[in-house]
Amino acid sequence: MNKKPHIIQLPKITDPRGNLSVIEENNHIPFKVKRTYWIYDVPGGETRGGHAYRDNEEVIVALSGSFDVLLDDGKGEKYQFSLNRSYYGLFVPKGTWRELTNFSTNSLALILSSTEYSAEDYIRDYEQFRKEANNE
Ligand code: TYD
Repeated sequence: MNKKPHIIQLPKITDPRGNLSVIEENNHIPFKVKRTYWIYDVPGGETRGGHAYRDNEEVIVALSGSFDVLLDDGKGEKYQFSLNRSYYGLFVPKGTWRELTNFSTNSLALILSSTEYSAEDYIRDYEQFRKEANNE
């Protein structure tokens, strides 16, 4: 299984009546979905995230509008993805520092998560994250 951040192309069933896309857990995405949340009404210039999860894995979809996702594995690999299609899912492995930024007006970010919410799973201090990523 590819455990680096990557875009998953989701099914897109085009139809003159309107298009349809779908996500099945453990099929189109590599985990069972324990939690779904969404980010919306983001004021211009705001950034969400700025933390990592120790165990939680995610798939992020720009259901509407666009935004950028900045990722960092703490070991020198950095990634930037611009999400602007509702049939692309961005897989974010556990142990990845992540920021969501450059939200367009009325953008809607859907996030599917592999774990239930746990405040203890968060690493909110970048230096702590870097140390854990490098087993220091
Ligand atoms: P947080 O994950 O820090 O937001 P973001 O990374 O998008 O900036 O969460 C913001 C607040 O919402 C925080 O107080 C915890 C709460 N929250 C939940 O209660 N359940 C959840 O599933 C999530 C993601 C957040």
